[in-house]
Amino acid sequence: MPGLLTKGRAKELIEKFPQNRILVVGDLMLDRYIWGNVDRISPEAPVPVVEVTKETVSLGGASNVANNISALDGKAYIIGVVGKDPKGQLMKKLLEERNIEPLLIEDSNRPTTEKIRILAVSQQLIRIDRESKEKLSSDVEKKIISKIKEILDNIDAVIVSDYGKGVVTKNVMDFLVSTDKMVFVDPKPSNFHLYKHITIMTPNKKEAYQSINAPEDMPVEEVGRKIMEALEINHLLITLGAEGMALFNENRIVRIGTKAKKVFDVTGAGDTVIATLAMAKVAGGTWEESTCLSNYAAGYVVGEIGTATVDRQTLLSLVP
Ligand SMILES: Nc1ncnc2c1ncn2[C@@H]1O[C@H](COP(=O)(O)OP(=O)(O)OP(=O)(O)O)[C@@H](O)[C@H]1O
Ligand SMILES: [Mg+2]
Repeated sequence: MPGLLTKGRAKELIEKFPQNRILVVGDLMLDRYIWGNVDRISPEAPVPVVEVTKETVSLGGASNVANNISALDGKAYIIGVVGKDPKGQLMKKLLEERNIEPLLIEDSNRPTTEKIRILAVSQQLIRIDRESKEKLSSDVEKKIISKIKEILDNIDAVIVSDYGKGVVTKNVMDFLVSTDKMVFVDPKPSNFHLYKHITIMTPNKKEAYQSINAPEDMPVEEVGRKIMEALEINHLLITLGAEGMALFNENRIVRIGTKAKKVFDVTGAGDTVIATLAMAKVAGGTWEESTCLSNYAAGYVVGEIGTATVDRQTLLSLVP
């Protein structure tokens, strides 16, 4: 939306990105993709046999949010839980390669969360999840909070990336909102009650409706207002997929559209939204400006194959 953000202003904000220091707290995941060809059905069971040709692993969940911060040249710190397993080591290595500071807690009671997708002829055949959704022990929860305390003086804002795997608890949220930092939350609807008094939340449309059990025919404006009332928050950003976003800023609602796009891969769009929003806000943007920039960033990543991030130069080039 040209009216909300000029090119000059975007440049001013983006130039400040390297000074930003952002802490991501949440559920870390590894995304593993296994590609192959299918030529035959297994003799053992009526299932296809995939001959593996390629395997990749990338940062998912909260770690993808940190990856987006890093791609925008912000300093990203991440606090989360991994298993005491080789995949936890791999997570740490991938984060360090991306210049992300991993402040990880190893929990011997759970595996490192991993989502494995097996794809043949560009089609996903199956997804395999390795994870625990059990509550964290109070010992691990205390470690999370003390790590947050340790890093607090070095950061400008916090992003909570909640995928419902246990890191985001009432005590963690209560501690975060008790600090003087802005708290950006990508929510899990079932944890809705934990997000009182945060700075802003960025649910997609489905999550927004789910979080207050709103009927389908309720207008999104009303859903947003009810969420803000229930959580006693002043800012809310509901992402609307191809229809863009609705920003609720105090009493004002701003709708931002997208350029209709051929979508290659929508996964991770939400991670790009919250990362860019926080980067722009910390750089001094208004909520409208920051939202607008995040909308450009997300519109870009959904059109890219295999890239889940955008860099500063590309981001600026997206602003007309
Ligand atoms: N088809 C599209 N064309 C252009 N932009 C899109 C499209 N789909 C998504 N976007 C952009 O991505 C943003 C987030 O999309 P969406 O509301 O689907 O988030 P999400 O469901 O949280 O994504 P995720 O799968 O990462 O969790 C949108 O607000 C918009 O900016
Ligand atoms: Mg999302």
